[in-house]
Amino acid sequence: MSSLLSTAPVKRLFAPALRRLEARGRITAKDTAKSPTTTGSGHDSGVHAEVAELRKQVEALRYELHYTELLFGDLGGRGNRRPTSKQIAHLEKEIRAVTGVESPHAAVVQAYRSIVEVELRGVGRIAGGTMNVLGKLVTTPLLAPPNGQVLEIGTLFGLFSCCMARQMTRYGVDYRLSIVDPLVDVQIQPGRPNGSDRSGSPVSEPVLRANLALGGVPEERVRIRRGYSTDPAARAELSDREYGVVIIDGDHTEEGVRADLEWAEKLVAPGAIVVLDDYGDTKWPGVTKAAEGHLQDSDRFEFLGSVATSAFLRAT
Ligand SMILES: C[S@@+](CC[C@H](N)C(=O)[O-])C[C@H]1O[C@@H](n2cnc3c(N)ncnc32)[C@H](O)[C@@H]1O
Repeated sequence: MSSLLSTAPVKRLFAPALRRLEARGRITAKDTAKSPTTTGSGHDSGVHAEVAELRKQVEALRYELHYTELLFGDLGGRGNRRPTSKQIAHLEKEIRAVTGVESPHAAVVQAYRSIVEVELRGVGRIAGGTMNVLGKLVTTPLLAPPNGQVLEIGTLFGLFSCCMARQMTRYGVDYRLSIVDPLVDVQIQPGRPNGSDRSGSPVSEPVLRANLALGGVPEERVRIRRGYSTDPAARAELSDREYGVVIIDGDHTEEGVRADLEWAEKLVAPGAIVVLDDYGDTKWPGVTKAAEGHLQDSDRFEFLGSVATSAFLRAT
């Protein structure tokens, strides 16, 4: 009991009641650890009854915390999907600044539910923290891309694509997904070790296809091109249309991001949205460097702003 009482959420929840009891001089931190077996005055037994009731509530809360942790905590190779209200409020402020949408709260809640649902249903994981993923999912459709052709460079397990498909549907957009990723069982990141994923699932085409099916993306709405975004053959195949949304989330080196930005310039429809993942993230300095360098020279992309750790560009 005493160790549980020392956990932050429990402390917060019960602090007012414990303060009241302490203020009456009838309870100390030690008392909360022992059973109220002694019989005392009527006042004492009232205090003990209150302590017993608190203990029951702590037990119930411990149960709640445990399964919340199993479902949404960062166990099992996935990220923590329990955003605080402060994080959500901050994210909404950023979304408002980039999109001009005054109240994005409902959109944020809907997208959050999709992340949880799609990750629970599929295998592997969505890469990135909850704020980063939510920022991309909410901001992109609110920027009203000119068409529903979505290109994702770097998909990992495809679960983010499933969520983006859901977002497009949510806004009545007739979407089509194009995905390019080497899909060689491990995540490729130049300059970093390419070990197996912490979720335990292989980064492979069968896993990707299974996830797209589990995530509710019909086969006819998606095409998968195995390979690197710099492969001439992959580029040729994927350059057959003008995209309304391009998500750059593949090779995170400065050269890799620059190459993807240069390619994206040639692929986008006027007014298209380019989402540049991990922009401003100190773990991936190459992304920010490449974006800054590219934007200095580019007259095709306008920088709209950033939300969490993604930059949003609009094609002229
Ligand atoms: C950060 S993960 C993508 C995460 C995914 N978009 C998500 O949100 O869950 C990066 C992926 O890009 C792949 N990748 C690396 N270099 C690439 C390239 N040049 N072209 C396409 N994909 C690449 C990696 O193997 C990995 O699957």
